[in-house]
Amino acid sequence: MRKSIIAGNWKMNKTQSETIILLNEMLDVKIEGDREAVVCLPFTSISAGADLLEDSLIKLGAQNVFYEDRGAYTGEISCEMLNDLGVEYVIVGHSERREILKETDEEINKKVLKLLEYNLKPILCVGETLEERESKGHFEKVKKQIEADFVNVTSDSIGDIVIAYEPIWAIGTGVSASAQDAEDMCAFIRETITEQYGKEAGETIRIQYGGSVKPETIKEIMAMPNIDGALVGGASLKTADFKALVNF
Ligand code: PGA
Repeated sequence: MRKSIIAGNWKMNKTQSETIILLNEMLDVKIEGDREAVVCLPFTSISAGADLLEDSLIKLGAQNVFYEDRGAYTGEISCEMLNDLGVEYVIVGHSERREILKETDEEINKKVLKLLEYNLKPILCVGETLEERESKGHFEKVKKQIEADFVNVTSDSIGDIVIAYEPIWAIGTGVSASAQDAEDMCAFIRETITEQYGKEAGETIRIQYGGSVKPETIKEIMAMPNIDGALVGGASLKTADFKALVNF
């Protein structure tokens, strides 16, 4: 049985002081059943978040990492630094980084491998543009991303990786994919992993849907057999919504 995982992606929102206020409101969230709740904070809020979340049910995540161990990489943050703060999950390959910061699959693959080396769990984002969906190229796009981002990843790491299917046209737009379209892609992603790593890996890997997920839509999404969780941006910044999402 795969454990559900609801992760909040705070993006570039909240100062450290604001983070403390918001997390304090969220701390008493009750998590029903066998599921995980994660908040992926901006780097500047992680230390404060780590202190607050220490005895809570909410797990700590980051939104990016660099793929070298240490050294002359001005402005970058290493796996060792995140490990030291108690981070468990790290988002990699978010479409905002792929599109705005021109991150390539090659770089994303290096990040995935480095995270696994440091026992950090990647939340690897994949997804198509509206143009790719309209021209029916969405399955091919996602397959290509997965193949490129999984180079040299071995089957024993599959249980530590979460794939987040996030159609770019659904992120921050208020227009979510239909639960069926999300399910179809998540089933396809599972098939892709099964082809490459075998049946057990395909059954083990956790796959989230992300893109305008709200408390009103989460139930339908989570009822789908191949969807194991959600990666949530906007709604995860509102205390009541975050609590409702976690207890879908
Ligand atoms: P959204 O963002 O929920 O605000 O659409 C999702 C994401 O980018 O992870």
